[in-house]
Amino acid sequence: MALRKLVAGNWKMNGSLGALVELDAILDAANANAGLDVAICPPFTLIAAAAARVPGLPIGAQDVHMAAKGAHTGCVSAAMLVEAGARLAIVGHSERRADNHETDAEVQAKATAAIAAGLTAIVCVGETEAERDAGRALAVVAGQLDGSVPRDGKGETLVVAYEPVWAIGTGRTPSVADVAEMHASIREKLGALLGAEGAKVRILYGGSVKPDNAAELMAVADVDGALVGGASLTAAQFVPIIEGAA
Ligand code: G3P
Repeated sequence: MALRKLVAGNWKMNGSLGALVELDAILDAANANAGLDVAICPPFTLIAAAAARVPGLPIGAQDVHMAAKGAHTGCVSAAMLVEAGARLAIVGHSERRADNHETDAEVQAKATAAIAAGLTAIVCVGETEAERDAGRALAVVAGQLDGSVPRDGKGETLVVAYEPVWAIGTGRTPSVADVAEMHASIREKLGALLGAEGAKVRILYGGSVKPDNAAELMAVADVDGALVGGASLTAAQFVPIIEGAA
């Protein structure tokens, strides 16, 4: 079943109020390619301004806390994100798993909280280079899905992003065959975990997606879009990726 593609930009800890001007051309490209979904996930501080500037472009967060409120200094709840205008939340990005020691169980709780608040949760998984070299990539990702995917979510409100850690920000990407093998394995695992809903979950590829490789990667079976880091920061780079996915 071909799913409607999603091309999401993850600005990470980049951007400023001035940089939101990039969203104007990104929204234009989204409107011109209406057969797919486009979203941008800026830092928390820019969500409200981004959502106000381009109401037609879904804006997302890069993390969310699993609790509704309370003594969690520096954290942001799903309801707060919704109030700020967010429609999606990335959870379990490998940079948070590494820098903040986030576990699969925490990622699952965050995804559950996001979905309960009406956000689409983008759950990130991916193996390290050592794990791939050891022939463990499929098993590692299957284990992350086991621990991180909420079981009660509807397929449409859940997105999985496969981001091999060694491909993030490096300019390196897996072969098309390796992407196909991993995405087929993720699709099978989602079926095992979620039944029929698993077929509705979009599986994004992320890791050094650029204008010159987007079309090839997006044409792979079970690649239902992209999660783009560096190349999502400017319309000049991101718009050709949107066009390549369309
Ligand atoms: O979440 C997106 C990401 O980790 C990929 O980053 O810069 O390799 O596209 P980049």
